[in-house]
Amino acid sequence: MLSIVQSCALRGIDAVDIAVEVNSGERGDLKFVIVGLPDAAIKESYDRIFSALLNGGYAIPRTRTTVNLAPSCIRKEGSFYDLPIAIGVIQSTGQCFFENLGDFIVAGELGLSGKIRGIKGGLAFAIQAKKERKKLLLPPESADEAAFVDGVEIFAVENLGEAIKFLSGQIVLQPVAHRNLQSDVKIGKNLLDFAEVKGQMALRRAVEVAVSGGHNLLMIGPPGAGKSMVAKRIPSIMAAPTFDEFLETMSIHSAAGLLMSGGKVCFERPFRSPHHSTSGAGLLGGGSIPAPGEISLAHNGVLFLDELAEFRRTTLESLRQPLEDGEVTISRSSGKIKFPCSTMLVGAMNPCPCGYLGDERRRCKCSQADILRYRAKISGPMVDRFDIQMYVPAVAIEAMRSKNMSEASAEIRSRVEAASKMQISRFQSVKNKRNAAMSHGEVMKFCELGKESADLLEMAMKQLSISARAYDKILKVARTIADLEGEGEILPPHLLESIHYRALDRA
Ligand SMILES: Nc1ncnc2c1ncn2[C@@H]1O[C@H](COP(=O)(O)OP(=O)(O)OP(=O)(O)O)[C@@H](O)[C@H]1O
Ligand SMILES: [Mg+2]
Repeated sequence: MLSIVQSCALRGIDAVDIAVEVNSGERGDLKFVIVGLPDAAIKESYDRIFSALLNGGYAIPRTRTTVNLAPSCIRKEGSFYDLPIAIGVIQSTGQCFFENLGDFIVAGELGLSGKIRGIKGGLAFAIQAKKERKKLLLPPESADEAAFVDGVEIFAVENLGEAIKFLSGQIVLQPVAHRNLQSDVKIGKNLLDFAEVKGQMALRRAVEVAVSGGHNLLMIGPPGAGKSMVAKRIPSIMAAPTFDEFLETMSIHSAAGLLMSGGKVCFERPFRSPHHSTSGAGLLGGGSIPAPGEISLAHNGVLFLDELAEFRRTTLESLRQPLEDGEVTISRSSGKIKFPCSTMLVGAMNPCPCGYLGDERRRCKCSQADILRYRAKISGPMVDRFDIQMYVPAVAIEAMRSKNMSEASAEIRSRVEAASKMQISRFQSVKNKRNAAMSHGEVMKFCELGKESADLLEMAMKQLSISARAYDKILKVARTIADLEGEGEILPPHLLESIHYRALDRA
């Protein structure tokens, strides 16, 4: 007898419909075959399913059984289909009849005991179920994240027995309650705070400017200057994510499987800090069934590349286009998959291989050639992605000794939010646009300079031999500095500060 259970596959961060067709009672050898482009995890699933069936008190098929995952043109991965296959087997072998099975989308991994384990993509499945006007049957962990989608009935089942009893009407379950940010979250509670960062006033200011205008930030300084410490605190001064931003970020984390098996939902803006040995695929996303990379996991948050000069040059180069476009496109024979990646890039590096170039307290041991080789690891165009490049000196000893706390993140965030408001009214037509994303035309329009400022910029460009490509960047950052002061016009002090943030250009 043929039984059809509706399920889903993940394509990028979206779910697509998959029909799990199970046919038992076929003539021929006793065999259990799964067809329809399954990966290795699915091919192995029948061992899990048979064990779960037996431990739940159900019989395994005694005749040839075929499972077809349709449409067969979509490559399927993972263990999503254990539960729908088991349900299909039970119905197609006549052990139970589920009258309303067609109303549900079902997914879940089975343990040998019949326990149902979490799967990735629960949020995407809920969005798909809502679109299809279906109910959703999921493992408890996945139901937890799916519950952020309203207008869809989601049922969480702990084990195979409970799922079967529920579908056959022997027990009644209540749908899980809808979750939203207000009911669930204390945003900022888990974030590190700028109050702990002593001294480093110039760096703190540069970070505030960078976050306010969405500018990428590069910090160059000796070991122990606090670069990593400051980077980790950046999410704490960014405006709290809107519900839409939160859902976008969560759908990426969900598709990457970060929320499965007790993984935490990230209510704050994400902070991702991949190690410098991370491959291009790890950063950008990849795999035969593409999964999001670090740059997408940092969507709406911060991608921190610590020890920037240690990353492979080709890996860094591959980030350039996605950073510009705000999305990564991965091509496969089955088509293109896109992952969003609007993120603030923060880099940190030492000024030279030994790390102490320019440090007053310790002598640098590197030769000129060593320094040039070290710097050359990062190409000009890559350096150019950083609107703000900042030398960070070692922390002053007086500042470290001080018992006073520095200004807390909440206060900085209120200024950042005020500057963001000015940008929202400036770029009304484009959602979430920041000064950093201005086109050349917009720079001409919004960053007009008075005579005094124009002369000053011209002089600085000549005397400090600042490259022409830095011109727009200086204006964009100056616009942000003016926004922070609530000033409509870019004034000479704003420009001077902005020029100061081109450390590598000046060098
Ligand atoms: N401004 C600061 N205020 C308080 N503590 C600081 C400060 N700067 C550094 N520290 C202390 O020094 C430690 C090391 O700092 P951090 O790891 O941020 O240095 P770094 O600049 O990233 O160095 P490296 O180049 O070696 O990576 C921090 O964990 C913190 O305890
Ligand atoms: Mg560090």
